[in-house]
Amino acid sequence: MERTFVLVKPDGVQRGLMGEVISRLERRGLKMIAAKFVAVNRELAEKHYAIHLGKPFYAGLIAYITSSPVLAMVWEGPDAVAAVRQTMGATRPTEATPGTLRHDFALQVGRNLTHASDSPENGEIEIELWFEDNELVSWSRETDRWILE
Ligand code: RTP
Ligand code: MG
Repeated sequence: MERTFVLVKPDGVQRGLMGEVISRLERRGLKMIAAKFVAVNRELAEKHYAIHLGKPFYAGLIAYITSSPVLAMVWEGPDAVAAVRQTMGATRPTEATPGTLRHDFALQVGRNLTHASDSPENGEIEIELWFEDNELVSWSRETDRWILE
């Protein structure tokens, strides 16, 4: 089953939207297999956003993600990467579809509430960066047969 890495970024935590993000992913049918509340240091932030090094928004992005704690999670499901990114909506909240988290709760790209892996490969890399193997919980969910064909 595909896994993806998700963050509720500092703005989401400060605004009391952790539960909203979890609730939407749960209701979608995705299964949480790991979660922890993290004060992100500069080293972790730079590793996580290494792909954006050199871009004009990089310094602001590092400042944003280290400004306040985040909720780091791993979610599992069929096509989990695409499903989660669809639930998040487009990177720029004003381009996000109504009904998505970024449309419903955000206005600017620099305060867009969440992060989600953009491919299964990057998902695995991000999960390895943020979690130890023994923090990933394998569990069976009784409702799976009503969610998964
Ligand atoms: P994310 O990685 O956070 O899930 O978002 P994404 O794939 O939709 O967007 P990405 O291109 O990976 O950008 C990562 C984050 O950098 C910030 N950003 N700011 N000011 C800007 O033009 C700009 N562009 C990107 C956003 O916080 C974005 O989520
Ligand atoms: Mg991205």
